[in-house]
Amino acid sequence: MKVLVIGSGGREHALCWKIAQSVKVKKLYCAPGNGGIAQSAQIIDIKADDVNRLVDFASQERIDLTIVGPEVPLVAGIVDRFLDKGLKVFGPSKDMARLEGSKVFAKEAMRRLGVPTADFKMFLDAKEAHNYIEERSTPLVIKADGLAAGKGVIVCKAKEEAHDAIKRIMEDNEFGLAGDKVVIEDCLIGEEASIMVVSDGKNFIPLVSSQDHKRIFDGDKGPNTGGMGAYSPAPVVEGENFKRSINEIIKPMILGLAKEGTPFKGILYAGIMITEDGPKTLEFNVRFGDPETQAVLPRMKTDLVELTEASIDGTLDKIKMSWDDRPCACVVVASGGYPGPYRKGKEIEGLKGASGIKDAVVFHAGTRVSEDGKIVTSGGRVLGVTALGETLEEAVKRSYEAVSKIKFDKMYYRKDIAQKAFAKKV
Ligand code: AMP
Ligand code: GLY
Repeated sequence: MKVLVIGSGGREHALCWKIAQSVKVKKLYCAPGNGGIAQSAQIIDIKADDVNRLVDFASQERIDLTIVGPEVPLVAGIVDRFLDKGLKVFGPSKDMARLEGSKVFAKEAMRRLGVPTADFKMFLDAKEAHNYIEERSTPLVIKADGLAAGKGVIVCKAKEEAHDAIKRIMEDNEFGLAGDKVVIEDCLIGEEASIMVVSDGKNFIPLVSSQDHKRIFDGDKGPNTGGMGAYSPAPVVEGENFKRSINEIIKPMILGLAKEGTPFKGILYAGIMITEDGPKTLEFNVRFGDPETQAVLPRMKTDLVELTEASIDGTLDKIKMSWDDRPCACVVVASGGYPGPYRKGKEIEGLKGASGIKDAVVFHAGTRVSEDGKIVTSGGRVLGVTALGETLEEAVKRSYEAVSKIKFDKMYYRKDIAQKAFAKKV
């Protein structure tokens, strides 16, 4: 088979790494890829959101299976475009990608299907939104409706902050059209975790649980990032909370959407808050999480190509999943300054040494191969240094041991990945 992966981050490196292990795959392409992906796939110089050129490339090369990493092409309708050309592609239709592309669409679907989530109201008008803030008690969460690269959600402790958020989103149009509508919702208190499931529209299979670390500094301090590390499983959502999340959140969504005649195919990712009253949905994504995927795929024994094909073909009920029981941890190594301004083009040393640590693998994110063949930094999040261990503690220890082999100017990483889980039993 010829397989194409779309995207250029750590998630896509993990996808390529896993797909390259499938006996079914003869040739693997990645567009646009990165310095690490170049070692296991042929890099194609087409951006992930250039849907027209991706359709042309896949048609010309007769690609047998395409897996889309990021949300932007999915929300733009890449799956419908591939299907129109008779090309096999893993992911949701444009219509169902709105679960991630529109907060209003997602919240209304949850309300309709009885899925637990924070109480909310939708606004098209800034004045009405300001009035509503005055009626409610804080904290409140203000969300721009559309995609805003993770920046469109503002948790407001005081009313002033909430008014300011409405001004930024609806009056100053900081997020452009994404801010034409807003959702104002109650703030949920608890610990967050992620559950991803693969769906074929009528059947679904849960992947193992995981937890992301969104803030830049240790102790969850500082601004939000694309994710500074992950681990799997996440004890906070194991056992009863996992069962409840599946039965109360995932099942009613997948079965409800099927019943409404708009089946969801691909990965449904639920961002969940474990509150005192049990699991509640924060958001849905319609793709693999980043960096959760880097901590989940090393544990997957099942062939990912067979799994994604079964999602496309509607035969997930025939798939028997198999997992490595060992926990996995991923430490993200970033460029100093990220998520603010940072420098690129720094040579990365010690990658071989890091990969030499037992059960460790280094997934590249913001890297490229320089003109003289060296691996250099090219983004904010540079590497996802990942390891399996007999215990989560061992997985984390191995990841940091691998990180200690790596060097580049102004490299930065969190020192407390998975610390929260150590107090709980895995
Ligand atoms: P979202 O894109 O909707 O997941 O929001 C991004 C982040 O904002 C989440 O991961 C949470 O940390 C936070 N968040 C979103 N909604 C809420 C809420 N209702 N209560 C508390 N925190 C929230
Ligand atoms: N880790 C959060 C996300 O992938 O959106």
